[in-house]
Amino acid sequence: MSQLVWLVTGCSSGFGEILIQQILSRGDLAIATARNLDKIQHLGKLGAATLELDVTDSQETINDTVAKAIAEYGRIDVVVNNAAHVTAGAWEDVEYDQLLAQFDTNVFGVFKVTRAVLPHFRERRAGVMVFISSLSGWHGHAFTGPYAGSKFALEGLVESLGRETEGFGIRTLLVEPGRFRTMLLSPSNLRAVTSKIPDYAEVSRANMEGLAKEDRKQPGDTNKAVKVILDLVRREGCALGKEVPFRFPLGRDAYETIGEKCKENLHLLEDWHDVITSTDHDV
Ligand SMILES: NC(=O)c1ccc[n+]([C@@H]2O[C@H](COP(=O)([O-])OP(=O)(O)OC[C@H]3O[C@@H](n4cnc5c(N)ncnc54)[C@H](OP(=O)(O)O)[C@@H]3O)[C@@H](O)[C@H]2O)c1
Repeated sequence: MSQLVWLVTGCSSGFGEILIQQILSRGDLAIATARNLDKIQHLGKLGAATLELDVTDSQETINDTVAKAIAEYGRIDVVVNNAAHVTAGAWEDVEYDQLLAQFDTNVFGVFKVTRAVLPHFRERRAGVMVFISSLSGWHGHAFTGPYAGSKFALEGLVESLGRETEGFGIRTLLVEPGRFRTMLLSPSNLRAVTSKIPDYAEVSRANMEGLAKEDRKQPGDTNKAVKVILDLVRREGCALGKEVPFRFPLGRDAYETIGEKCKENLHLLEDWHDVITSTDHDV
């Protein structure tokens, strides 16, 4: 495959940072973005172009940034919507503004960045859109409703988008990582809302302690996951000669949890088939 130009959001740590490192090491061109340019200077030194991009900015601002990104190398071939954070807490404790902030980054930000890139891809009848979703786009763990809700929303939006745009030669890849060792659960990035309601207090505290213990101890190796993502986009390595699926879980935990959910849903449909299919008008 020829040299690709990648635009990646949220490159100051974790998946975004490693994506840029591996994109460059495979000989592709990378435009690394972050809301604070100081945090991606090291990626600039590696050879990436760098741009400031906060995905919660207005559509106009994001359009301007994407136009600068296109001007950098004359085109973008792959956009990776990676930036996100986790808001964790019980429904009754999370305020509306906190839920809105969660969706503003994880859903509306992705929407705006993708809308800024899409005319360029349509015009060229080419392009790959990568969305970093999550195992939480399949399974709503207790006390992480805002995050799970944002990733479920993303899954629906992206599934429709993929169908709308495949006719233009645009590929869509929805990646669903399990638990990977990044800064996602670090005290600086995790937005934890501990319960003020006695009924939830104990289990909420245990849950927050669980998340804190998991911080940078997750089983998933982010370097290995990123290598697979690059293979899927470039149709190399593990994806060589294969049809690349639209949806791609990553990690043993993702395999197990998504597998369980699929089985549960199939059982439900079989066990309740007659009731579920009994509601059409009588002809
Ligand atoms: N690690 C996992 O276990 C896991 C599992 C499933 C899915 N994911 C997904 O993987 C993606 C990357 O997360 P990560 O695990 O690599 O975590 P991370 O190390 O915390 O990286 C998240 C990145 O998003 C950036 N970001 C947050 N808000 C932003 C905004 N408004 N505008 C631009 N950038 C913003 C952060 O930048 P700042 O430095 O500016 O905060 C940071 O660079 C996310 O979509 C996450 O949901 C991760």
